[in-house]
Amino acid sequence: MNANGVASSLRALLERLRLRAILAFLLVQIFVPCLSSPLACAADSIVFVEKEKLWIVQSGEATYAFGVNERGELQHLYWGKHMGAQDFTSTHSLPGWASFDLSTTTTPQEYPGWGAGLYTEPALKLTLANGNREVVLHYVDHKLEDNDLEITLKDEISALYVHLHYRVYPGNGILERSARIENGTSDAVSLESAQSASWTLPQDGSYRLHYLTGRWAGEWQLQTERLQVGKRVIESRRGSTGNEANPWFAIDHVDETDESHGPVWFGELGWSGSWRFTIERTPSGQCRVVGGFNPFDFGYRLAPGESLQTPPFYAGFTDAGLGEASRILHRFQLERILPGSPHPPLRPVLYNSWEATEFNTDEAGQMALAEKASRLGVERFVVDDGWFGQRNNDHSGLGDWYVNPRKFPHGLKPLIERVHQLGMDFGLWVEPEMVNPDSDLYRAHPDWVMNFPGRPRTEGRNQLVLNLARDDVKEYIFSWLDRLVADNDIALLKWDYNRNWSEPGWPEAAPADQKKIWVRYVQNLYDIIDRLRSRHPRLQIEGCSGGGARVDSGMLRRVDQVWPSDNTDALDRLTIQYGFTQAYTPHVMMAWVTDVPNGIDGRATPIGFRFLVAMTGSLGIGGNLNKWTDDENAVASKMISFYKQIRATVQDGILFRLGSPIESDFSAVQYVSQDSHQVVVFAFLHSQQFGRSMPQLHLRGLAEDAMYSVSAIDDKLVDQTGKLSGAYLMHHGIRLRLRGDYDATAIKFDRVR
Ligand code: DGJ
Repeated sequence: MNANGVASSLRALLERLRLRAILAFLLVQIFVPCLSSPLACAADSIVFVEKEKLWIVQSGEATYAFGVNERGELQHLYWGKHMGAQDFTSTHSLPGWASFDLSTTTTPQEYPGWGAGLYTEPALKLTLANGNREVVLHYVDHKLEDNDLEITLKDEISALYVHLHYRVYPGNGILERSARIENGTSDAVSLESAQSASWTLPQDGSYRLHYLTGRWAGEWQLQTERLQVGKRVIESRRGSTGNEANPWFAIDHVDETDESHGPVWFGELGWSGSWRFTIERTPSGQCRVVGGFNPFDFGYRLAPGESLQTPPFYAGFTDAGLGEASRILHRFQLERILPGSPHPPLRPVLYNSWEATEFNTDEAGQMALAEKASRLGVERFVVDDGWFGQRNNDHSGLGDWYVNPRKFPHGLKPLIERVHQLGMDFGLWVEPEMVNPDSDLYRAHPDWVMNFPGRPRTEGRNQLVLNLARDDVKEYIFSWLDRLVADNDIALLKWDYNRNWSEPGWPEAAPADQKKIWVRYVQNLYDIIDRLRSRHPRLQIEGCSGGGARVDSGMLRRVDQVWPSDNTDALDRLTIQYGFTQAYTPHVMMAWVTDVPNGIDGRATPIGFRFLVAMTGSLGIGGNLNKWTDDENAVASKMISFYKQIRATVQDGILFRLGSPIESDFSAVQYVSQDSHQVVVFAFLHSQQFGRSMPQLHLRGLAEDAMYSVSAIDDKLVDQTGKLSGAYLMHHGIRLRLRGDYDATAIKFDRVR
């Protein structure tokens, strides 16, 4: 070999070494994070395999795959634990079952239209202008840009198009899906069901469904049941999200999944109007969740060229149990959904006057409460209902958004200034979508409420619902809110919504378009909030619907916090908050300390217990401070100052539910800060019987060799050694001395190594 040959072999060797080094670097980048975080196991991406017409989505721990089959349908292939693109080959429809279940029904489609003998739940159902009532969707083309994929499907005969959107959120383990239905025909098309997505789970015999139900003062009840053959429907027909059920689901394997182990498929819909999930198990063992606009009384006429966009449906998969499913959703909401994401501002400690004064809101009374609240360390003072119009009870005044001159003779400014002098910012209650018939607004515009002409208008809490689908009503609401916020230094609006719909008529619209009210109302509501926030970037909003009847990820895009329930009894709250955090982050979960006996159930719990329950979310006080004793004030000051040391961990940290209040009399939650420097544990004993001793609490998610300095809020921690290791906390566990009824404690662990 001559010198040139030696040099070129050397170059080739060096090049090989360089490639190896790059490869090693990439492997470290991809697989080392995988050891510490299940979410990072595969680079989140959407890959298109052109030859086979396959799309492979990698999202967190999950792989999701689908392709075009020989009939041209978009067929679902897989959703579950990670697999590589090489694991998928071409897509073939499934055989039918005798002459009864045709291949169109046994073959799981990504977005099935009702037609060609489909008996499973369709994603789309419509009537064409010529009376034909089927739609059979075939692949046309697609556009893939980074993490966004749009696939266009077309009816095999008509020019009806569906554009399916898929989005991966890198690092969040969430896949978003939605559909835009476009009328490319030259006539109107009437949509009767328009779903956001059909999610197909692997064929398996042992599925269990978790979902949330409730009613006023009893929201967020976690339900669990084995899925049998047939359809399980959870829904709202109320015009808003509702408290009867929440648009969240988790499905796992019976006997295999628990809080920290096993497969879970989960999702939530970003829509604040009527919605429906159909969870279907076919006799052949298939399982799917189809969700979107509720088809009940639904009708959306698309003019030629018009489209309807369905709400986003977010879903994920984990093999690490129900706790991890919640943590994925919490992180996703914090980093991608909430205003201010990826770092939504921390919630200040809040005082709200509702339970103290109800409608007796006036300047002197509110100033007295504000002074007492500020002495305790409260940072935000919120005036609730009763400050406007002739609002002396819930019979009148709603809709008349001028400051009541008898209660606030100089307007709101003197109170707001006083609140600022006391070092707090100011919040105000509004209920923009409603009107009392006994109001100037209703007397001037009786046609502004939703109604069926000639029929009675059913009242709820003596109020009617304004028809926000009307653009004039929308503009009116926007303009008074805009003025209110522009004229007063308001940091937070508490946006309430105290009833559901009746007589959802929109007589001013063409008869064929009147059912659009179900969609248009919510779109206009979103528009008002979005415009208000963009005109007043510092404004924050609390979402409330007589408690937690309008919490969903569509609302969470627009509000900074929510009011989960009017039930402030601390014991009930443990169950409510346990249910709430299955689906939503503690960051948004407002929790007040109120007076005893509690107004809802008459239960009296100690003030320490009430505080510690409220401190597991975003802390507020709702009691009548005029009546608090020195001892109660001392407890409050101590708790609030402790809360300020841990609130970033509670609101933005990683939540581990260590014990369920549903399953036992003892429950506990743990939070680990994002930087893993702080850990906080809360433990609650509801009622001790027969001297039963406390279980040892095993913490989770810590580094074994980390050392923590321990500070408990009281003397109920047995392991008072000053410093404890991660290994001790997780494997040995901590022991607590809780006794009797309604005992509780909190412990803070700060990492020293
Ligand atoms: C219902 C809310 O949930 C309460 O907190 C309070 O704001 C009342 N409405 C006021 O009417």
